[in-house]
Amino acid sequence: MFDEIIAVLRAFVGISIWQTLNTLKLIKKLYWMTYTQVWDVNLHIANQFAPELNPKSVIPAGKPGANGDWSRYTFLPPTETDSRSPCPALNALSNIGILPRNGRNIKFTEFAKVLSTTYNLSPSLCMSILMSIAGLFQRDYFTDSIDLELFNTHNVIEHDASLIRHDAIIQADQGRPAIDLINQLLKSATGAAIVGKQRVRILTPADIAAFLRQRRADCKAHNPQYTLKFLHKFFSANNSAIMYDTFGGRVDDLRTFLIEERFPQGWQPRVTKRYGYTLLSLNFRSLQIALWTEPPPFVVPPRRPVSNGLYSS
Ligand code: HEM
Repeated sequence: MFDEIIAVLRAFVGISIWQTLNTLKLIKKLYWMTYTQVWDVNLHIANQFAPELNPKSVIPAGKPGANGDWSRYTFLPPTETDSRSPCPALNALSNIGILPRNGRNIKFTEFAKVLSTTYNLSPSLCMSILMSIAGLFQRDYFTDSIDLELFNTHNVIEHDASLIRHDAIIQADQGRPAIDLINQLLKSATGAAIVGKQRVRILTPADIAAFLRQRRADCKAHNPQYTLKFLHKFFSANNSAIMYDTFGGRVDDLRTFLIEERFPQGWQPRVTKRYGYTLLSLNFRSLQIALWTEPPPFVVPPRRPVSNGLYSS
């Protein structure tokens, strides 16, 4: 009888400790979520008033790629054993050795620092996104590490109907670019801008949305296991938005970046906001692309060449 009482008490204490730990975890999560959102709103507001960065020195002095000089970082394509992800932005960092070349054991906090300086993303955006990703893989943002290939886990973040990878059922290795899709995507660009005296082609948000819409129709027709949940549509719009804004849609730069997963010499982020590309900016752009990708009534606007003067000097 006494033993039974002890067993019940032990179980009760065990459950209480487990419940307390879970509650603490939840509180910690809510705290950091609120922290990054408030931080982001502040940086977004500060961006509206602070002078923009010089487009020729967006990457801080002393950091890889400062002044657009990538020549000191040797590009080596991944070997068979190197770990790579479905994200060209993460892979490019390993391909030139800013992050470990084997793509393994990279701390989330290290990712955040490097992504922020290389792509001029606000620290609040990096922390918020990477913290969510760490959570999706049951890891701790502050202490844990990740191999790039973990991002390939199907239907966690990686999903069907991607822009630059065939569906996982067709392309088992999601760490490699699908050159045919990338060529089709870039061919669909309808925009144009003047850079110096040169005319460059621009992949506009409307082009990206139209391409995504076509990809969804094609994948649905040809992939018997096709799925695309709301969450994955959200990731898809996010990735497209971040790509558009950090590259200003420039087809010449995107070709090198998406196909070879490296930075073209001279490239710097096209976002020149002093405190970086915020989560709020990302959300506005994602919403635009997400709505235009959906079937009517959200119709993609007429796609006519734009000459936004963004790059004219
Ligand atoms: C906080 C930083 C970032 C993280 C954690 C991240 C992570 C990811 C992940 C996990 C994917 C695979 C999801 C999918 O299949 O759609 C992805 C895809 C992608 N990412 Fe990133 N990324 C980041 C920043 C960037 C940046 C700065 C660019 C700029 C070019 C970029 C461009 C892309 C593109 C184009 C895709 C493919 C989207 C598609 O195929 O539909 N990412 N990213």
